[in-house]
Amino acid sequence: MSDKIIFATGNEGKMKEIRLILADLGAEILSLKDAGIDMEIAEDGKTFEENAVIKAKAVMKATRALVLADDSGLEIDYLHGEPGVYSARYLGEDTSYRIKNQNLIDRLEGVPEEERTARFVCVIAAAFPDGRVLTARGTIEGIIGYEERGEGGFGYDPIFWLPEYGCSTAELTMEKKNELSHRGKALRAIKKELEREGIR
Ligand code: IMP
Repeated sequence: MSDKIIFATGNEGKMKEIRLILADLGAEILSLKDAGIDMEIAEDGKTFEENAVIKAKAVMKATRALVLADDSGLEIDYLHGEPGVYSARYLGEDTSYRIKNQNLIDRLEGVPEEERTARFVCVIAAAFPDGRVLTARGTIEGIIGYEERGEGGFGYDPIFWLPEYGCSTAELTMEKKNELSHRGKALRAIKKELEREGIR
């Protein structure tokens, strides 16, 4: 039905993960760059869902293709869900994650383990050329560690501790992270929705 799907991200690391998980859909998966699209989209939603839908719809309107877009971030319960939808912009877009991560560790100083609960959230929106929109959400639960651990992953991974695995998400292999992560779960969920729509 659809031979081409645009995934509205400029992040090549994410594209690798996305292509791997959506490979057997059969449709060609293009990044914004692959599709020759260069547009600034204001992510001014208050929820992950709103931001993912804003991005997917904006690119769908410009291309009339089936467009997927994601929005993700880290929610820390003790900080009432911060940094949340502001995860990328927390302390400034250009601030290093060494500084962002240390700042969050400092804000949780003295907070016992049972109150350090957190989750990564990823929402993927699919905007169809006929105007319909579907969303899928994936989460992974963990706790905020007491120090950075691991060299893998990106962003907040070094402080996101998985008690049941005894490691941070920065210490997982890419395959294992794809299996457990918020993004992997949301991708597999949206893939099911697309298959239900006859896209395979
Ligand atoms: P966006 O979804 O590209 O807007 O990025 C959201 C931000 O959330 C990223 O820049 C990271 O700070 C954070 N984030 C999302 N997923 C992950 C992850 O898997 N590991 C570490 N940080 C993440």
